[in-house]
Amino acid sequence: MALSANAFNYIGGAAGTETTARHNLEAFSRYRLHPRMLHNVAERSLGITLFGKNHPLPFLLAPVGVLDLAHPHGELAVARAAAACGVTMIFSNQASHPMEACAAEMGTARRWFQLYWSQSNDLVASLVRRAEACGCEAVVVTLDTTLLGWRPRDLAAGYLPFLEGRGIAQYTSDSVFQDMLRTFAPPAGPKPRITLKSLHTLWQMLRRYPGGIREGIKEGKARRAVQLFTQTYSRPSLTWQDLSFLRNLTSLPILLKGILHPEDARLALDHGLDGIIVSNHGGRQVDHSIAALDALPAVVDAVQGRLPVLFDSGIRTGADAAIALALGAKAVCIGRPYAYGLALGGQAGVQEVIENFTASLDLTLGLMGCADVNQLNRSWLVEK
Ligand code: FNR
Repeated sequence: MALSANAFNYIGGAAGTETTARHNLEAFSRYRLHPRMLHNVAERSLGITLFGKNHPLPFLLAPVGVLDLAHPHGELAVARAAAACGVTMIFSNQASHPMEACAAEMGTARRWFQLYWSQSNDLVASLVRRAEACGCEAVVVTLDTTLLGWRPRDLAAGYLPFLEGRGIAQYTSDSVFQDMLRTFAPPAGPKPRITLKSLHTLWQMLRRYPGGIREGIKEGKARRAVQLFTQTYSRPSLTWQDLSFLRNLTSLPILLKGILHPEDARLALDHGLDGIIVSNHGGRQVDHSIAALDALPAVVDAVQGRLPVLFDSGIRTGADAAIALALGAKAVCIGRPYAYGLALGGQAGVQEVIENFTASLDLTLGLMGCADVNQLNRSWLVEK
């Protein structure tokens, strides 16, 4: 088995009855592509432009956290695959490897940074500065995870990777987080019972702490880092007004990920944001939510071409990508499929997934009589 049961459930699982995750996939079958004949498709172009930069493919790798669950090389292998395929990788704030280490694997290949807005604005500023310094070309603020969704598979197993010190490398490698850790006193509570499970958890925390076991054991740093992370990683009180802090902090394009409502899309415009990713986090947050694809057309219409709209949640084939692009997405993000590719084959597995997406989109376009991905629009679709 390529994934442990806990890893498989964490990656594959979704909120509640997992209805949103199912609807994300089903939504595609409400649209039919409408091929045209006798158009010259001998040469085809899949390239797009985003924020004035050329991207050879209309795909990005969605920020997916804790990728050492899938493969020991985790994000490092993904970074190498993304660079080899010319696809932009969005570094997750919950990565198992620090952004600088991933950037070092990528040469000049494009990368973006995804931010979870923490309780500390100093930490937010530090993460964004680091992202700028390691060559990220945009900041994606994920808005739909200010609280962690109700995920029965993880709850049933009593499993959350962060509690093992997994997926917190962006924090433990951060000087502001380390400053916070020095003065952090964990809330008083009953002393944890020593069991095989608690010893295993402690071992996992220690081996992942920067500097290794010796460093992690000092002053209980590895354990306290997990506790500090759980108390500070997110700010549920975040509002539209807070975004000006980020706007003043960086001149990089800022995209909002998790927008589903056209009114929110209009607010994004009013607040001077640069892009939107329509997404419901792969159905991991709100059960019985609108399918991401069903939210896409109204968001596209609301922004009237004034900022690019990207899309994720349910993209499984090149034809899926063609539908989302025809509905007005400028690019689509691949999520779970590349995590599974990583589990099966490391870097080569991720590349294989990207190459399959590329080939199937290219063939779909060619067979539809569309020579340029930028020509896709709603006239290529029939709604069932
Ligand atoms: C995610 N996603 C996510 N999003 C984000 O902004 N930051 C993150 O750290 C993560 N982490 C994460 C972990 C895992 C295991 C999954 C499956 C997803 C959401 C991700 O970016 C994307 O929105 C979804 O994966 C899209 O849904 P599909 O197409 O993968 O079903």
